[in-house]
Amino acid sequence: MAEIGKQIDTAALHLKQNNLVAIPTETVYGLAANALNPIAVAKIFEAKNRPTFDPLIVHTHSLQQVKTFTTSIHPLLHQLALKFWPGPLTLLLPKNELIPALVTSGLDRVGVRIPKHPLTLELLSKLDFPLAAPSANPFGYISPTSALHVEKQLGNKISYILDGGSCDVGIESTIVGEENGQIIIYRLGGLAIEDIEKEIGTVQVQINLSSNPKAPGQLKSHYAPKKPVYTGNIHTLLPQFLNKKLGIILFGESINLPETVIVKDLSPSQNYQEAASNLFKYLRELDEAAIDVIIATQLPEISLGIAINDRLRRASAPI
Ligand code: TXA
Ligand code: MG
Repeated sequence: MAEIGKQIDTAALHLKQNNLVAIPTETVYGLAANALNPIAVAKIFEAKNRPTFDPLIVHTHSLQQVKTFTTSIHPLLHQLALKFWPGPLTLLLPKNELIPALVTSGLDRVGVRIPKHPLTLELLSKLDFPLAAPSANPFGYISPTSALHVEKQLGNKISYILDGGSCDVGIESTIVGEENGQIIIYRLGGLAIEDIEKEIGTVQVQINLSSNPKAPGQLKSHYAPKKPVYTGNIHTLLPQFLNKKLGIILFGESINLPETVIVKDLSPSQNYQEAASNLFKYLRELDEAAIDVIIATQLPEISLGIAINDRLRRASAPI
């Protein structure tokens, strides 16, 4: 199994040798390799069993480094970078030849972000290359929000897991790009749309619930536990499943439930940040519990509720 620790130098050494290292970020753990080396990058796809049509996000420590492997940055995207980096924001920027085609699945733009985690920022600043890192889970499964989650599923395929505790934000970054002067959100995530619009005005949201050529990883079924998940109005769903062993995800609702039901409340005080940070952990716990079916409430469509609902819908979609 992979060694788990907090040694930045050990992590750096493995990465310089083109090995895989799991890294903590504020969103979810990433499975990292040298983004400029196609052999190292290929190991990521192999370990995750990820199709190569699904591009990877490149992580760096500074806007200055971003400029070494991109050709331009639209002024509004630049404004977002200045405001929200380090943070849960990924920008799609036109790449130059330093980024191997494998990283972007042959697309002209590369997804870039500066993550907000002290260990990983220090690690990045000690390397003279950026890190390609998808979420550190087998393809299609729930993203990991702790070192232990990574170890359980990918431990035998990784050289080192850098343990940075549990992830503060808990869902993946928001992905933003520009087409013909229009700013577009391609994936809902840890940075709320409201925060982006406060900074740069109205943006378009293009979230496909099927395969989307602009963001191929946005498959309809994703972030999914092995158990069946149903999401919607909890009062409508509940009566349909009372004959099953049931796990239920709530958002501060108080509901009378049979004692046999396992309840996970994302946030008893209905705080959206808290709910996001608990979501994947609770989905994993219910996946491992002695239940048959998971039902999950839908949150109000504001703030991070929008991204949480998106993840729950994808977790519940048939493959
Ligand atoms: O928060 C996050 O973004 C985490 C942490 C580790 O940084 N990473 C993450 O990576 O969620 P991943 O690989 O699980 O999801 C990346 C998704 C792809 O599936 C795709 O939808 C989109 O980002 N993406 C990446 N590069 C792209 C590109 N060049 N063009 C379009 N979409 C891209
Ligand atoms: Mg992922």
